[in-house]
Amino acid sequence: MSTRPIVAASPDSIAVVTLDATMEERITELLRRYPTTRAALLPMLWLCQERYGWISPGVMRAVASRLGESPAFVEGVVSFYTMYHTRPPARYVLQVCTTLSCAYCGGRELVEHLKGRLGIGFGEKTPDGEFQLMAVQCLGACGDAPVVQINDDYYENLDVTSLDKVLDELAGRR
Ligand code: FES
Repeated sequence: MSTRPIVAASPDSIAVVTLDATMEERITELLRRYPTTRAALLPMLWLCQERYGWISPGVMRAVASRLGESPAFVEGVVSFYTMYHTRPPARYVLQVCTTLSCAYCGGRELVEHLKGRLGIGFGEKTPDGEFQLMAVQCLGACGDAPVVQINDDYYENLDVTSLDKVLDELAGRR
């Protein structure tokens, strides 16, 4: 299993963000591929999330400044997409597809099982910061329903047993 844990920067450490030379190099490369700076916003946010683990207000301000956009515009985009974390996430974020194909192919059972096993509801983290549960809409893999995305990886055709195996392995990495 290749799922990499998220390492989230502390809120204090990214309250104010200065994009360093490495980030600048990657951003410059990104901007070359898009017709306008605004068009590069989503991949730039993704780049920042890879680096810091989440998108803090400080990150939003730095991105807005770099692209010549207002912080409010950037915040509006960030808040629209579930893929961007606006608070420090758990090491493993479980995005459970709750759309029809998944729901009817066992997704509802997975949701109930996850809530029971982890002792949390959607939008919550376990007290040890290991797991976080999110309800999301179609992940675009309906043919292999039910689907749970954990960090950057898809886990498909799941049932309670196979999902437990994945969670056991992730929990055992501590
Ligand atoms: S309905 Fe779950 S991936 Fe499409």
